[in-house]
Amino acid sequence: MILCAAVMMCMSCQQKSADNAETAGNENVKSTTMEDLLTRRSVRSYTDSIPPMEVIEEICKAGTYAPTGMNRQSPIIIAVTNKEMRDRMSKLNAAVMGIDDDPFYGAPVVLVVLADKNVHTYIEDGSLVMGNLMNAAHAKGLGSCWIHRAREVFESEEGKQILKELGIEGDYAGIGNCILGYTKGDYPEAKPRKENWVYWVK
Ligand SMILES: Cc1cc2nc3c(=O)[nH]c(=O)nc-3n(C[C@H](O)[C@H](O)[C@H](O)COP(=O)(O)O)c2cc1C
Repeated sequence: MILCAAVMMCMSCQQKSADNAETAGNENVKSTTMEDLLTRRSVRSYTDSIPPMEVIEEICKAGTYAPTGMNRQSPIIIAVTNKEMRDRMSKLNAAVMGIDDDPFYGAPVVLVVLADKNVHTYIEDGSLVMGNLMNAAHAKGLGSCWIHRAREVFESEEGKQILKELGIEGDYAGIGNCILGYTKGDYPEAKPRKENWVYWVK
């Protein structure tokens, strides 16, 4: 019995209707998930427009449903749509690299993932949240990219000050910044996969 419908691959097509997933049977839902996983790319050019709050909330929700070690749910997400805070975080991130450019590539939204260092799976937990956020963003037709150096930013005095201002208490380490927005220009193509990714034992 064929369990999965044929995976419809559209490598250059990012815009997808979430309604398909909501209304289709299970087989098509699976196929949409596969398509999303294969066609998500890191986007490095954005328009200034902030996507609707409900879409950003849904993407965050997908993050909160990532698996976590022993279901400890060690990560948190700081969802930044405020331009002043977004720019402040961008500057801190740039300072880690010693550059002046915007490491967020103009994206208007940043979902910062941090995780509780006291949970021994915190890096894995936070990384899976990042994966969910990026894949959910793609499923919702938005561009995204993991921007690194969250660890250094939130180890810095100003990073700690931001957490304090936001009333976030705890032993949190920065895992990553998921930038979000509408893609400007061409959607990137996947690089070829390396040889020997998978070693089969059949
Ligand atoms: C841990 C991690 C850190 C990354 N940091 C950055 C970054 O700081 N800036 C950036 O432009 N891309 C960053 N990326 C995105 C990668 O460069 C990108 O995933 C890779 O080139 C593959 O491209 P794709 O995501 O389009 O498949 C990061 C990705 C990961 C997983």
